[in-house]
Amino acid sequence: MNHFELRDGALWCEDVSLAAIAQEVGTPVYVYSSATLERHYTVLRDALVAEGIRGEHGGDPLIAFAVKANSNVAVLKTLAQLGAGADTVSEGEIRRALAAGVPGERIVFSGVGKTADELAFAIRSGVSEINVESEPEMHLASQVAQSLGTRATIAIRVNPDVSAGGHAKIATGKADNKFGVSFSEAERLYAQAANNAGLKPVGVTCHIGSQISDLAPMAEAFAKMKGLVQRLRAEGLSVERLDLGGGLGVPYFNQPPPPSPADYARMIASTMGGLDVAYSFEPGRMICANAGVLVAEVLHIHERPEGRKFCVIDAAMNDLIRPAMYDAYHEIQALSPRAGEAVTYDVVGPICETGDTFTRDRALPPLAPGDLVAFMSAGAYGAVMSSEYNSRLLVPEVLVKGDRWSVIRPRPTYEDMLNRERTPDWL
Ligand code: LLP
Repeated sequence: MNHFELRDGALWCEDVSLAAIAQEVGTPVYVYSSATLERHYTVLRDALVAEGIRGEHGGDPLIAFAVKANSNVAVLKTLAQLGAGADTVSEGEIRRALAAGVPGERIVFSGVGKTADELAFAIRSGVSEINVESEPEMHLASQVAQSLGTRATIAIRVNPDVSAGGHAKIATGKADNKFGVSFSEAERLYAQAANNAGLKPVGVTCHIGSQISDLAPMAEAFAKMKGLVQRLRAEGLSVERLDLGGGLGVPYFNQPPPPSPADYARMIASTMGGLDVAYSFEPGRMICANAGVLVAEVLHIHERPEGRKFCVIDAAMNDLIRPAMYDAYHEIQALSPRAGEAVTYDVVGPICETGDTFTRDRALPPLAPGDLVAFMSAGAYGAVMSSEYNSRLLVPEVLVKGDRWSVIRPRPTYEDMLNRERTPDWL
């Protein structure tokens, strides 16, 4: 469910008309709905709590929002105010989470290539755990912690070697992916960590992929994680936490909907069968994808003699790369749909490569230059993956709450863009 809807022939985000935002901020522009962010977070939390899935000290499980999905500080703050934590993968993301008011003890630090500096920053920031992805990284965390006179609180990331389906570029849970260690390695590393002066192992973690639409591979991976926790405990090791990652898919178009948070929570409760551990999660997409749209303006309708109709818009692959990168589908909605028979368009951006195509052969209401369109479900992995390719200005972001809205990242100016660069004096 989301808070974007057609009212009297125009598309609204909560109580603000998207056309009004486009008019003032210009296009392209990302617009996010606070109510949708809040709803997705609370629906997930409530579903987990209803199934008896608990966090530390019997409280709510830690829902560490995957900052990579949408890292705008205002978005993070919206979630932090509801009690969300943050799953981070760089010093930059930790800094964003802290700036949004997420306390260190609700920040998880993941990622396969953490540097010594980043580890030191994370430890000094009091992050709740460092999810260690390999043996060398574990030793580095230990060295860094000891040089700071402390122990690093770690969890070992396991690669459960299951196939989660979905696009190959976002699958993470097969043994030939770069993420995590095998179960047997995890046991060995955990025992080593327990005897290491620079480490405090507290748990284990896994994340098997993204946009997962089938609970079976998750259940398979989670059952294996339960076995691991039990084996570690049988060896006399203390395992306090279990982080089950993110990955639950969202509906991008009219296909059978992915499992609901309630189905997901039920699956976890039945798979874990009362395993007494503090649970945490790292959802990204399911919290924010349907909470955001990218609004663009139609520049030209270009009809080729062979019959193709290109709808050229002012957004491009540098603003929303998912279609070019993963062949991802985003619904396209006219802000004020015109009456008349649907027309089949190729919707393309202005960038000088054929990959700058959002969709081919899409039937849409008739479009004309000046019309505004919205790419739906663009709140996750949208603005965060944008760039200035073709020297296009970085796309701005707006947050709506009820009938209020604010620019939460302004469009830079061309001066900003040029002033970041330096010309050597010998040129
Ligand atoms: N935790 C870890 C360790 C991850 O690597 C990821 C996503 C998540 C959590 C959050 O997963 P989610 O709940 O959002 O599925 N750019 C791609 C998606 C890449 C996902 C990478 N890892 C896309 O646009 O589809």
